[in-house]
Amino acid sequence: MGMIERIEEISESAQEAVASADDLSSLEAVRVQFLGRKAELTGILRGIAELEADQRGKVGGLANEVRQQTEELISSRSAELEAAELELSLVADSIDVTLPGSPAAPVGHLHPVTRTRRMIEDVMVGLGYRVVEGPEVELDYYNFTALNHPPDHPARMLQDTFYIEPSPATTGGDRGPRDVLLRTHTSPMQVRAMEASPPPLFIIVPGKTYRRDSDATHSPMFHQVEGLAVGEGVTLADLKGTLLAMLREIFGPDREIRMRPHFFPFTEPSVEFDVSCFRCGGSGSLDGGDRCGLCKAIGWIELGGAGMVDPNVFSFVSDAGYDPDLVSGFAFGFGIERIAMLRHGIGDLRLMFDNDLRMLEQFS
Ligand code: PHE
Repeated sequence: MGMIERIEEISESAQEAVASADDLSSLEAVRVQFLGRKAELTGILRGIAELEADQRGKVGGLANEVRQQTEELISSRSAELEAAELELSLVADSIDVTLPGSPAAPVGHLHPVTRTRRMIEDVMVGLGYRVVEGPEVELDYYNFTALNHPPDHPARMLQDTFYIEPSPATTGGDRGPRDVLLRTHTSPMQVRAMEASPPPLFIIVPGKTYRRDSDATHSPMFHQVEGLAVGEGVTLADLKGTLLAMLREIFGPDREIRMRPHFFPFTEPSVEFDVSCFRCGGSGSLDGGDRCGLCKAIGWIELGGAGMVDPNVFSFVSDAGYDPDLVSGFAFGFGIERIAMLRHGIGDLRLMFDNDLRMLEQFS
């Protein structure tokens, strides 16, 4: 067989070998086999000088051409295989970042006050109420004056309320030393909400409130939820039905409520409302005959204040469409911590704000 035929054979088998190399390492073996130092083609090229003069040009030319062709084939096959291998490893190594960690990392949980607030909001939104919030730094006008508190009402005393030194920069200098305070209840939002929207109005107002008070059941900062319903023909019976529906959601379907006469400057008549004890079922004694410690054997647990909106409060918002001859309303307010303490059996209010994880982690 002549040199030319042999080189053509080598060329063919190189092409076949390159095409059938199905990964980078077998392709490298093909490269060594056909282009390496010991390859036949390399040997032919090395021996060109020893050939007959008339053979040199043809054999050398063809051998070089085949060598170059084979190099090109290998490098394009190599690019192909590299891309395929990258694709494979991407698929094999892919991480689904949407899967939970394993084991799931501890992520914490909501504070019992937040959970209780959200639960109350859910119940009241279900009854058709809107959730609104208001400023914690409040004007005396909304906190007291427009809620019918007379100028000498004890809640206005320095020992009961935190007053804020008004800054002339923000108040334009027209607020006195007793005009700005930390709201003592969420009730100021009654007036603000009525100013902002005409009746009918159904809102609840969760939020922080402040009083100069500190013991096992009082904290200088605590949370309240206010409720306000105003429309034509709203009665005390609606108040009772609303409180009953809300408290049965929170404390169980068998609960009863009672209202006792009370006084608030901005409601008339005013009541305090109690829920029947969910530990003893309202009997005051436990199954074994022991006295119920939760309600102190009374059968009722005191929760908050309420009443019919005093017509005089409407007179502060008559411009917004609240005519006491046309509309009536009820309002209620209670503490969120108290509800949370009752639901979880927490004995000391201050534990809520110590931020001790040993306490908080019990309520996940
Ligand atoms: N704001 C009253 C309080 O903090 C509670 C209350 C709200 C009473 C609404 C009547 C109506 O004690």
